[in-house]
Amino acid sequence: MTSVLDVVGVVKTYELEGLEVRALDGVDMAVHEGEMLAIMGPSGSGKSTLMHIIGLLDRPTTGTVTIEDQDVSNMSANELATVRNRRIGFVFQSFNLLARTTAMANVELPLVYAGVAASDRTKRASEALERVGLGDRLKHMPNQLSGGQQQRVAIARALVTAPSIVLADEPTGNLDSRSGVEVMDILQGLNREGITVVLVTHDDRVARHAQRIVHIRDGRIISEEQVEKRVDARAELEALRSGAVPEHVENVWVNGNSGVRPDSDDGAAR
Ligand SMILES: Nc1ncnc2c1ncn2[C@@H]1O[C@H](COP(=O)(O)OP(=O)(O)OP(=O)(O)O)[C@@H](O)[C@H]1O
Ligand SMILES: [Mg+2]
Repeated sequence: MTSVLDVVGVVKTYELEGLEVRALDGVDMAVHEGEMLAIMGPSGSGKSTLMHIIGLLDRPTTGTVTIEDQDVSNMSANELATVRNRRIGFVFQSFNLLARTTAMANVELPLVYAGVAASDRTKRASEALERVGLGDRLKHMPNQLSGGQQQRVAIARALVTAPSIVLADEPTGNLDSRSGVEVMDILQGLNREGITVVLVTHDDRVARHAQRIVHIRDGRIISEEQVEKRVDARAELEALRSGAVPEHVENVWVNGNSGVRPDSDDGAAR
């Protein structure tokens, strides 16, 4: 299997008031081309640190990161920014949209940085917003959108540069269950189109939308599993729309830990 992302022996330490915090303690991980991978682990285990490193927002203290056969370990900040802009889209738990700025302008921003001409920007941004079902919300400000819609704007912003990898750090963490399923539906859709997706989650059910789950603890990968009965967000949405899942079950179900799980998600789309 070809990997798009290779993390080898990555250690990340932070200095805090003279004390060394070891956020990552020797991580080896390969992300395969076109896969959907979930990273799970307790709070403080190093998930966000790892996402920042593979997203080229931060550098390892030691170890190497290779993206599409390019060793990025010794790249300058400018070179890293270029690779990041071309290859990677980022989605955060807290959306990170600019306030008092329309959905369109938020989505256009990465294209502004990439030096894309204004007319092309408008076209691509509105296409990306349509792609996430927000074609009728182009002029809305973030505070005029629901949390789920804001997260979809953030996904459109991640998509607009046509990245080959989308990294999502707890993308459903601040959402109600239905909006969470909508976001997972979009991520699975992108993955079906060939985009590699890496997501971080605390929620076992969210993780099982992926093909593979990596478990991290104390800055180390402790195990990995192939997901056997993958959850298909499209089928979940269908079930929600048809009223097959009562709202209260939906809540327990998507938020996990209940053991209540309909079996309608067999044969998840690949
Ligand atoms: N800038 C920093 N300076 C010092 N320590 C840091 C810094 N960033 C993270 N850490 C520490 O590194 C460890 C890993 O943090 P990280 O944010 O990666 O955890 P996480 O798994 O994403 O947790 P959560 O699930 O709560 O988001 C934690 O102990 C954290 O306190
Ligand atoms: Mg985190």
